[in-house]
Amino acid sequence: MKRAKRLAQVADYPFARWAERVDAARQQGLDVIRLDIGNPDLPPPDAVIDALCQAANEPSHHGYAGYRGLPALREAVASYYERRFGVTLDPTCQVVPLLGSKEGIINLSLACLDPEDLVLVPDPGYAPYAAGAVLAGATVYQMPLLAERGFLPDLRAIPDTVARRAVMMWLNYPNNPTAGTVGLEFLAEAVAFARRHGILLCHDAPYCDLAYNGYSPPSILQVPGAVETVVEFNSLSKTFSMAGWRAGMAVGHSGALKLLAQVKSNIDSGMFLPLQNAATVALATPPTWIAHRNQIYKQRLDVVLSGLERLGLEVPAVRASPYVWTRVPDSLTSETFARRLLEKSGVALAPGSFFGPGGEGYVRISLTAPTERVQTAISRLASWPAWAGAS
Ligand code: MLT
Repeated sequence: MKRAKRLAQVADYPFARWAERVDAARQQGLDVIRLDIGNPDLPPPDAVIDALCQAANEPSHHGYAGYRGLPALREAVASYYERRFGVTLDPTCQVVPLLGSKEGIINLSLACLDPEDLVLVPDPGYAPYAAGAVLAGATVYQMPLLAERGFLPDLRAIPDTVARRAVMMWLNYPNNPTAGTVGLEFLAEAVAFARRHGILLCHDAPYCDLAYNGYSPPSILQVPGAVETVVEFNSLSKTFSMAGWRAGMAVGHSGALKLLAQVKSNIDSGMFLPLQNAATVALATPPTWIAHRNQIYKQRLDVVLSGLERLGLEVPAVRASPYVWTRVPDSLTSETFARRLLEKSGVALAPGSFFGPGGEGYVRISLTAPTERVQTAISRLASWPAWAGAS
């Protein structure tokens, strides 16, 4: 059987490979605590589950749902953006519902890129940004995210020749995997850069409602005029603990969204109607539900931060996201470190290399397990000698 050449450059999704290691560790009898993938363990709001069940009981809800998403869902996305960010969207042309933001990221890449094109991606960064570019045959230019720059790319360091060839640029704040955050000032600089060079600026914001100590992450669409050059991706996965439901949205530049919808109409056949009803209900969840949920993440964050501090490890401040990004001993690659930790202690963390070459030397700890399991994981880490540089 022939394998397409493009697949030679896109390995299996890192967390798909890692899940096999986790399964193998479990088969060895280890009690594995998964702090690797950002898979929320807490349930969605009750009203969302009720809406799904009710809608699923309606016999007429099991056929094709149409390609553009129900007007009610698109309006719910627009209302959420208005309420949450003060951003006004036209639900008829500035909102596209997605089967999770990951498919939208890949499909927008297929919609906008040709083989000679260049895409600017953060390094480290969420793997689908680069994978989408490579699947479209385009070339990736990595923008380093360094701790000393607060995990913001240095746009002035991008050579003019690169900026001229670039067709898309990806940003993601609150950031996965570093937990870096951004202010509107930098986002405005990025919008100006994109405009100057005719680049479609894609901002991925699935962690915008997972924040601590009163911090409220911005939408890039709050930058005046951003909608003329920006598509923002968002998701119900983390905000409403609905990762398995596969519900997200792309909002912003109507021309780019039209191309995205064109690709999608050829690839998927729309979102299951009861899911659209439930997503519509989710988007109207009161902020008090989110605040309460974030308090639970904050307890876990404090457990992890104080544990790492006791181990003498430095961790950049975490204002948002369910992630803690910390260094591994110099003597081991991040994957070797995480593999040994998994096999010896049953604690699964995400190797930094899953997020690109810039992630080497780090691991990512996800707060998406019950607080007492996070506590147990930290105790196991503390008694594992490799944190002190031994193998
Ligand atoms: C992550 O852990 O980085 C994400 O949850 C993975 C994903 O969205 O596929």
